[in-house]
Amino acid sequence: MLARFKFNVPNSVFRGAKALRIGSYRQFSVASISRSDAIFVHRDTPENNPSIPFEFSSQNVDEAKRIIAKYPPQYKKAAMIPLLHLAQKQNGWTSISVMNYIAKFLEVPPMRVYEVATFYTMFNRNPVGKYFLQVCTTTPCQLCGSSKIVEAIENHLGIKVGETTSDKLFTLVEVECAGACVNAPVISVNDDYFEDLTPEATVKLLDDLKAGRPVTHGPVSGRKNCEPLGDQTTLTTPPPGPGFMLRDDL
Ligand code: FES
Repeated sequence: MLARFKFNVPNSVFRGAKALRIGSYRQFSVASISRSDAIFVHRDTPENNPSIPFEFSSQNVDEAKRIIAKYPPQYKKAAMIPLLHLAQKQNGWTSISVMNYIAKFLEVPPMRVYEVATFYTMFNRNPVGKYFLQVCTTTPCQLCGSSKIVEAIENHLGIKVGETTSDKLFTLVEVECAGACVNAPVISVNDDYFEDLTPEATVKLLDDLKAGRPVTHGPVSGRKNCEPLGDQTTLTTPPPGPGFMLRDDL
């Protein structure tokens, strides 16, 4: 967005400035306005309201108790984030009922849970598809072609960033650095990373997921983890022994 500001200066000064070819206008750019109500505010909907029941499965009750036991009894609210993750995994997303249940479980006011769940974007407060696609578009991934990955997904699935396919299979979001820059560009599908992607490899991945074919996470380029794509470029000689670069008298 481009904004222009006019300074209120006396005419004599303005004429002088004009003579010096200094304009009375200054231009600057600002980022587009982010609509924060889409992020923070809860509105009851038929699929997300407090009357929809939620509780941990018996297996997750045991797991939650195991997590809480890591903390001193008076600080069991410290288990809030792992418990929210556990609940999101069970429910698929973090609904208002999930948050209220966690508040009850930890014996804290619901507001304490809302504060956490609305702060961390990892908690999806709206339903997501079976495959939650998070495309990293931060600088290293962008330099390695993440815009083309986003474009390939949008074109192939017919959705835009932030949307879910009508068959509820895929939800697409953009995220900041996924912490795997050395294997950029990267997307995560649920809990798995797919790295060194190309648009073609991404489309194949989507097709395999849709068809229920097994997929292998990690670099699609064939390299092992984050080893160099070509020959080794570091640590190519045996390491020097003890005393290397030290004075003789030490
Ligand atoms: S920038 Fe994409 S993983 Fe770090």
